[in-house]
Amino acid sequence: MTSGAVTLNRVLILGAQGQLGIELQKAFQDAGPVVALGREWCDLASPETIRKAMAEVNPAIVLNAAAYTAVDRAESEPELAMRVNGDAPGVLAEEARKINALLVHYSTDYVFDGSKQAPWLEDDPVNPLNEYGQTKLAGERTIAEAGGRYLIFRTSWVYSPHGNNFLKTMLRLGRERDQLRVVNDQIGAPTTAASLARATRAVINAGVQDRDAGIYHMTCAGQTSWCGFAQEIFRRAQAPEGKIWPVVTGIPDTEYPTPAKRPKNSVLSSAKLKARFGVALPLWQEALGETLIEMDAD
Ligand SMILES: NC(=O)c1ccc[n+]([C@@H]2O[C@H](COP(=O)([O-])OP(=O)(O)OC[C@H]3O[C@@H](n4cnc5c(N)ncnc54)[C@H](OP(=O)(O)O)[C@@H]3O)[C@@H](O)[C@H]2O)c1
Repeated sequence: MTSGAVTLNRVLILGAQGQLGIELQKAFQDAGPVVALGREWCDLASPETIRKAMAEVNPAIVLNAAAYTAVDRAESEPELAMRVNGDAPGVLAEEARKINALLVHYSTDYVFDGSKQAPWLEDDPVNPLNEYGQTKLAGERTIAEAGGRYLIFRTSWVYSPHGNNFLKTMLRLGRERDQLRVVNDQIGAPTTAASLARATRAVINAGVQDRDAGIYHMTCAGQTSWCGFAQEIFRRAQAPEGKIWPVVTGIPDTEYPTPAKRPKNSVLSSAKLKARFGVALPLWQEALGETLIEMDAD
């Protein structure tokens, strides 16, 4: 998958300092004029700032990488999470429709309850287990209701060299401890922000028609548990000098209680994305290797 040099009209990226926002800026850097805004310029909790940003930038494409992503905190801040994840995408979609812009938005595996024994398809029944999932589902619906041109990419277990994520937590804990106990009964596909950003660019390059509007699953290929992810991190990452990485033992999620309940099976099928746009993301282990190399080079 390459990000060929298709020139686009103005691209607006929201959530510029987030994991995905940073990678989208790289993937679209040769795409024509790109305007990347953080919360200080476009606060999704404030509809006026969204309308102002859309009017001033007048984009042909909006890539919305901004979201309230603190899954556990959302349990105690559901109203704010709903404003940002549920209401704001609808405002964005309405503004995009007025100027015939394409809205690209990201949603989550947490719209599902994890009960299926196979990878989730786009039209499988949704049933979020936590507030974050409820708010992201609301965002999918407000976008669809606005009736414009849109793509929603549902993804999972996102990480990158930047921000707070599972990879960075494991590397930090790995330096501090001799043993780690990690949940082994939740499965999903760890997905790098870089893979998501490149796949997004490849979809745009493939050409998006009005009839393509809808939801697509977009994750790295393969699947594992959080425990399997941790073991692969320590298998591939270079240990600090004089240190051996810890032994990682699997535990059920009942032994690691969190404020937000999480699905057991988060694996999403990305077959629709491949069928429509010819775009597929790499295996999660390959994407992990690439990320570790990038972190080493920093
Ligand atoms: N991370 C995951 O595991 C995961 C899994 C599935 C789906 N997703 C979805 O993937 C997308 C990208 O996530 P990510 O991992 O890149 O998240 P991230 O690193 O947490 O970045 C989110 C960005 O949104 C910004 N933001 C938060 N509230 C805002 C507000 N009120 N107004 C404007 N900006 C605001 C944050 O800004 P501040 O830095 O100022 O807080 C941050 O830069 C999101 O739609 C997320 O729901 C993520």
